[in-house]
Amino acid sequence: MRHGLPDAESRNHPFFVHLFSLKSRNTRLQRGCLRGVQGPLLFGPFHAPSRGIMAKLKLAVIVGSNRRDSINRKLAQALVKLGANAFDASFVQIDDLPMFNPDLEPQRPEPTLRLKREIEAADAILIVTPEHNRSIPAVLKNAIDWASRPYGQNSWANKTVAVTGTSSGAVGTAVSQQQLRMILTNLVGVVVGGQVFITFKDGLIDAEHNITNEGTRAFLQGFLDQFAEIATKLAA
Ligand code: FNR
Repeated sequence: MRHGLPDAESRNHPFFVHLFSLKSRNTRLQRGCLRGVQGPLLFGPFHAPSRGIMAKLKLAVIVGSNRRDSINRKLAQALVKLGANAFDASFVQIDDLPMFNPDLEPQRPEPTLRLKREIEAADAILIVTPEHNRSIPAVLKNAIDWASRPYGQNSWANKTVAVTGTSSGAVGTAVSQQQLRMILTNLVGVVVGGQVFITFKDGLIDAEHNITNEGTRAFLQGFLDQFAEIATKLAA
C-alpha cells in the first residue's frame, strides 16, 4: 500500500489511507534524524519513539460521534492501543452535554464542567471524528463550544491537538477534518500536521482493537509517534 494519493494498487486494498505531509516526515523518521527533548531519539521506520524514563503523556481522546457502534470510536480505541507506549489515554464523554446556550453559562451544568476539567488536565488531545454533511457532527461542535467558554477561560488554550477520522466514503472525513482544523486554529495551541483520512471497511479493526492491515497499522503508528514527539516538546 502507498501512503499518498490513492492509486490503482491501493484501491484494491480494503481501505485507503491518504497521507500528504506525513510522507516526508516518515522519510525523516526512517533516517532517524529527529531529535527528542532529551537528546537524539533513534527511530526505526514507524517504530514508537523510545520515551526512556519519561512519563507517558496524558491524552484526552474525543470521539465526534454519539452513535452506539461508532466506527470512529473503534478507530480511537485502536489508536489508544497502538499509542500505549507513549500515551496514557482516557476518553472524554461528550454525548451528555446539553446544547450550548449562553443562558446556561452563569450556572453551568456539571457535565460541561467535567468536560473542561478533563481537557485542562490533558497534555495532548486526540479528536477522532466522522463527517456529517461535509462538516463536523453537531455533538462535537457543541463540546468545542462548551470547553471554549466562559470568555477568557478557554480550556483548549495551549493544548496540542491531533485530528483524524473515518467514514465509509472515499475521502474518509477529509472535509470535516479541514473544518475542524479551521475551528481549532482559533482555540488551541497547536494542531499537529499530517492528514490521516481513513476509509472504513469491515474487518479493518478487530474486536480487540487491533488494526488488521499491517501497512495501515505502521502508518498510524508513525502518525502517533509524530504526535507524541510534538506534544512532548510542547509539554516540556
Ligand atoms: C453522514 N455520513 C457522511 N459520510 C461522509 O463521508 N461525508 C458526509 O458528509 C456524511 N454526511 C453524513 C450526515 C449524516 C447526518 C450522517 C448520519 C451520516 C456517513 C457517516 O460517515 C457514517 O454514518 C459514519 O458511520 C459515521 O461515523 P460514526 O458515527 O459511526 O463514528
